[in-house]
Amino acid sequence: MPPRLRVAEPMELVTARLRLDALREGDAEALFRYRADPDVCRYQGWRPAALADAERFIGDQSAMTEPSHGQWFQRAIRDRDDGVLIGDIGFCVADAQAEFGITLAPAAQGKGLAREALHALFGWLFGEMGVHRVHASVDPRNAPSMALLQAMGMRQEAHFRESLRFHGAWVDDVVFGLLASEWPDAAGRGAGIAASR
Ligand SMILES: CC(C)(COP(=O)(O)OP(=O)(O)OC[C@H]1O[C@@H](n2cnc3c(N)ncnc32)[C@H](O)[C@@H]1OP(=O)(O)O)[C@@H](O)C(=O)NCCC(=O)NCCS
Repeated sequence: MPPRLRVAEPMELVTARLRLDALREGDAEALFRYRADPDVCRYQGWRPAALADAERFIGDQSAMTEPSHGQWFQRAIRDRDDGVLIGDIGFCVADAQAEFGITLAPAAQGKGLAREALHALFGWLFGEMGVHRVHASVDPRNAPSMALLQAMGMRQEAHFRESLRFHGAWVDDVVFGLLASEWPDAAGRGAGIAASR
């Protein structure tokens, strides 16, 4: 049985424009629509083929009320005012290190919202969860994602050549990392600046 992670209360983060909280049954259609969009899922492992896949994904997540060691914990990204689902963000904490991934619906992209969501998530992971390091893995052809991780003040730490078998092809994997000790400086230099605009 993996150790349970200590969380004071259900994870809910509010920023200037967003609310990050639990995925709900009623989110399935919106989630399916953007997650199945070819432009959105091009570099992602999970691609729902039907609405039922999105419903199952949300159902599985509903069983998890708090993050647990080594398990992906997926949160909704909502418009703060009307609660509409505009994306999702997930993380997996193991041995005080958190891997994360983020997806926005096409209409929500290009507005600095991913930075705003990550700014809140990093603050929570380094603060509330006390993680030592956050990291993410990205296909180097995924330019918006590479730009996002750089904008968050993360360091490119590795570029593995054709190290992943992905939807039938060998692809490169670039790893970005950021330490808890580096976050105050990165945040001070404007990482996730949208949060303060
Ligand atoms: C990766 C992904 C979340 C990035 O989304 P994004 O909206 O480009 O990211 P950001 O929040 O950093 O927004 C940056 C853009 O918003 C613009 N912007 C507009 N208003 C802004 C503001 N107030 N603050 C900051 N940037 C702002 C920036 O200029 C930039 O646009 P540009 O790329 O044309 O220069 C998105 O491309 C996506 O969902 N991709 C598909 C899923 C995926 O591959 N995920 C990767 C898993 S890690």
